[in-house]
Amino acid sequence: LHINATEGAGRKIPDTFFGAFFEEINHAGAGGLWAELVRNRGFEEGGSTVPSNIYPWTMVGDESTIEISTDRSSCFDRNKVALRMNVLCHSSHAVGISNPGFWGMNIEKAHKYKVVFFVKASGSIDLDVSFVGSDNTKLASNSIRSFDRNVTEWTRMETVLLAKATDHNASLQITTTKKGVLWLDQVSAMPLDTFKGHGFRKDLAQRVADLKPTFFRFPGGCYVEGGYMRNAFRWKDSVGAWQERPGHFGDVWGYWTDDGFGYFEGLQFSEDIGALPVWVFNDGLSLTDEVDTSMIAPFIQEALDGLEFAKGSANSKWGSLRASMGHPDPFDLRIVAIGNEECAMSKYRENYLKFYDAIKQAYPDIQIISNCDASQKPLDHPADFYDFHIYTNAEDMFRKHTKFDDAPRYGPKAFVSEYAVWQSDAGNGTLLAAVAEAAFLIGLEKNSDVVHMVSYAPLFVNTNDRKWTPDAIVFDSHRSYGTPSYWIQQFFSSSSGATLLDSTLETSSEYIVASAIQYTNPAEKKKYLRIKVVNFDSDPHNFRFCISGLDSKVEASGATTTVMTGPNVKEENSFSEPNRIVPQHSSLEKASGDMNVVLAPYSLTSFDLLI
Ligand code: AHR
Repeated sequence: LHINATEGAGRKIPDTFFGAFFEEINHAGAGGLWAELVRNRGFEEGGSTVPSNIYPWTMVGDESTIEISTDRSSCFDRNKVALRMNVLCHSSHAVGISNPGFWGMNIEKAHKYKVVFFVKASGSIDLDVSFVGSDNTKLASNSIRSFDRNVTEWTRMETVLLAKATDHNASLQITTTKKGVLWLDQVSAMPLDTFKGHGFRKDLAQRVADLKPTFFRFPGGCYVEGGYMRNAFRWKDSVGAWQERPGHFGDVWGYWTDDGFGYFEGLQFSEDIGALPVWVFNDGLSLTDEVDTSMIAPFIQEALDGLEFAKGSANSKWGSLRASMGHPDPFDLRIVAIGNEECAMSKYRENYLKFYDAIKQAYPDIQIISNCDASQKPLDHPADFYDFHIYTNAEDMFRKHTKFDDAPRYGPKAFVSEYAVWQSDAGNGTLLAAVAEAAFLIGLEKNSDVVHMVSYAPLFVNTNDRKWTPDAIVFDSHRSYGTPSYWIQQFFSSSSGATLLDSTLETSSEYIVASAIQYTNPAEKKKYLRIKVVNFDSDPHNFRFCISGLDSKVEASGATTTVMTGPNVKEENSFSEPNRIVPQHSSLEKASGDMNVVLAPYSLTSFDLLI
């Protein structure tokens, strides 16, 4: 690889190059990034695989002394269902209800949890609120009494529980020994300690932050579209007080969400990780049905209202709702996507143009993403970006490193918002997939004059309910790890805003791809030249790089090499071996601008030279 490091000869890679794409799939938000521990907190959960809207709550105690059912007596107009609990007699043995959370609640010793619920009763109440371990021991417990006061109107109750032991598979119980009828609704349990205090599960939020994403695309994906329009994500139902959100059945991925991680939380999380939000909204098209352009006006108004919610002043109608949620300043929303993957649908273009014109008129600075592919021929409609998605096998992903070499250099820029090797090559996240993706990313960096933004998909999977595989971050109630693809993303993140150097690869192998960048390590404030090379061959290869045109010399020390490879291309990380396949960094004793190395089969090798 000949690298020309002459000052001014390179080209800047966009600051917003590498980002993250969050979709409510695989319980990424509900039972994942959103730290709510209670599943079906409002007794509203529905859908084809859920036996009742009480599920997964169960009864505690002697079944002959308690009846539970639901009715529509809640004080919340948009989610009327409440749980009715009829305790038939006083007893020394407590009866009540129990919630297992999302496949077990993670309760940790010395941590505090806030439990909030709404209650109404035929008289006074005397309840115990507890976290109970899988062996039935009490991890924490508080009493809630109204003493002699009757709570015949809905009343909000709150208590903070301090755990005295750890259990990763705990449940929440609300029990009583007192005869009478009571109703419960919107029962929430959250750890007090969340990422930036904003309700995000800390370890998962940190994994995303470690990718140093420069943008955060959300909330989908097909989740935004819905299998049917009636189940599409509607941002207005996902903002305001959590207890008033109706929740909805995400029919594409087949589970209910209470929309705790809603539009506001997506904007807030973007800000918390220093990423620009990229909001994908429903454009009147689902996977199955389409709103005719003659009736699209309310959907356009919904999108404009969403922009006002994010960007409007705290005195505007929707901006004031945002302010009431604790964010008086506007969010830095600059980019939106009109839909997700509907370009082939008959109404897409017509509807798109209506959205495009209305948004550009109201917000001329907003940049708009079309989901029609312009990598081969120019779009027939205006856009700032075109969306490009690719899921394929490893060999094809490797070969796609040239995908954008011949893409039109004028017109909208490419946003590769979803890419991944999948199916048998990928398993649940293999080395083979990650190496192929690394080659693809090198190709995107080289084409970063036309490709401006890149994100992997999907980001998260709760291992108890895989809807899609592979995914970048795998988790359960208390653990998480990154797949090899996650580590590749993390390694590439320093390319955002770096300078792509002019380089020429001379090789007879079709399985070698390489590039060079110059970047500044922000922590050290030192300048590095980074060479990355992928060997997608089953044989090792000799590799030499030589650098010309450097003002300064490559420093002999202070260099590191990074290698990601393994004895078997199908190797994966796991909870028990989370770092089996990760980039391995080591110091180089002696570095220079002209070096020979051996590339391992199916590997990414990189050099960071201090300049
Ligand atoms: O990432 C999973 C799905 O793949 C997304 O929802 C969709 O955009 C694509 O088809």
